[in-house]
Amino acid sequence: MSDLIEGYLGKRVDGTKSRMPALLDRWQSITGLILGLFIIGHMFFTSSILLGKEAMYAETKLFEGSLFLSEPQPALVSLAATFIFIVFIVHAGLAMRKFPYKYREYKMLKTHSAHLGHIDTTLWMVQAATGFGMFFLGSAHLWMMVAEPDRIGPYASADRIYSDHFGILYALLIALVVLHAMVGLYRLTMKWGFTVMSNPREGRKRNKAIMWGAILFFSLLAYSALATYWSIGKSHAKDYGERYVPQSQMMSGGES
Ligand code: HEM
Repeated sequence: MSDLIEGYLGKRVDGTKSRMPALLDRWQSITGLILGLFIIGHMFFTSSILLGKEAMYAETKLFEGSLFLSEPQPALVSLAATFIFIVFIVHAGLAMRKFPYKYREYKMLKTHSAHLGHIDTTLWMVQAATGFGMFFLGSAHLWMMVAEPDRIGPYASADRIYSDHFGILYALLIALVVLHAMVGLYRLTMKWGFTVMSNPREGRKRNKAIMWGAILFFSLLAYSALATYWSIGKSHAKDYGERYVPQSQMMSGGES
């Protein structure tokens, strides 16, 4: 146990080196990669509302297993959200090792970063700050997805965003998550040498340009989707709680 704590902190009391920090670092990268790729998919999925309520409804049912089950099961979404929540907590726990613990350490880091004028050091600080905020806002959202997977759909999501005021939480979370995920993926490519190829300087420049492009693209996509949910929620406020009925079920009287 003491080996684990010493490894987590990266120091052994007897002054010898431990392999644990390298192992934990690798797991921080692996969990970060899973979350980063998940977020890219997630941003496209939630943006299906830009294609209309029918598209978002069909996609929701797809995630509930409509392709292979006779009756869609929201519990499948809950299972996926539980897995992502666990990866999210492990990732945050591993990242916390590198946070400055004392105000003095934080001041030193800030001065160091300002002296270096090194954009990648500043990006690390952006990641630490956005990660800290995401831990609270992301946990509230994830718990909702674990506990109420049946409350997802064109009207259910829009009601949550407008009438239940989750729109404010999402507006903040989008900025944090887009920055954190894209900076994180950029840092992963640099750290493990992916796509840097023979010319590291050029590779860094190109990867950084892709990172800024992705930040812009996913911010536009996510805020457009949020505005669409908000406007649907606003017109649906008088019928709060009523679920969307797809055109195909209008005649048979089914609902979601
Ligand atoms: C399997 C896990 C997840 C599921 C099932 C899920 C599902 C959803 C759904 C259905 C929405 C639409 C709004 C709503 O119904 O409340 C949404 C929005 C959002 N989610 Fe997730 N989510 C998951 C994980 C995450 C994670 C890990 C993050 C980041 C920490 C995140 C960040 C966001 C953000 C920022 C929005 C607003 C996006 C927008 O309006 O375009 N989600 N999510």
